[in-house]
Amino acid sequence: MTKRVAILISGAGSNMVQLVKSMRADCLAHCALVLSNVREAKGLARARSLSVVTTTLDHKSYTNNREAYDIALHNILLDHKIDVICLAGFMRILTPFFISLWANKILNIHPSLLPKYKGLKTHQRVLDAGEKETGCSVHLVTEKLDAGAVLGYASVKVLRGDTADTLADRVLEKEHKLYPLVLQRFLQGEMDLLVFND
Ligand code: GRF
Repeated sequence: MTKRVAILISGAGSNMVQLVKSMRADCLAHCALVLSNVREAKGLARARSLSVVTTTLDHKSYTNNREAYDIALHNILLDHKIDVICLAGFMRILTPFFISLWANKILNIHPSLLPKYKGLKTHQRVLDAGEKETGCSVHLVTEKLDAGAVLGYASVKVLRGDTADTLADRVLEKEHKLYPLVLQRFLQGEMDLLVFND
């Protein structure tokens, strides 16, 4: 049976676009929903232009109540008969309760070579530390932030004169290739690490 995937976004949704296109090309899964916690997220319009069903679950309506937000999120995902969740620039920390309901069914992409540089502002921290290499990781989502099993890596050289923005652009190009590949393997039950070099 074709798996039904939900992609959760908060911003531009460039990874989401690549995931949708790759699911259409390889027919292993169907992107049944793109959900954003931000009404103005640019990715929502991009998803609609790809004829993907979209919805918004605004976090501002759930201030100080993460559990209630996540229960509402869970119910939307059930309504859409979702099997797998891809976080793609979804800027919210999910509650342990939600993660336990979706254990081993949530993937995330993070713009660093985990376990290095968990959290935010990864590219500036990579530059400040004088790293020669960085990249991106796709991992399973567990209770601990950016700490679930890594399923795929792609690396990027840090160049002389790089800024956080130039580095982010080159890492994002790799994210667009890595995430669809890892999702494709994951949907086929392949959990061993993919080290992607092109
Ligand atoms: C990506 O760099 C991703 O790694 C990070 O947030 C960014 C999302 O970009 N988690 P986009 O919305 O997919 O364009």
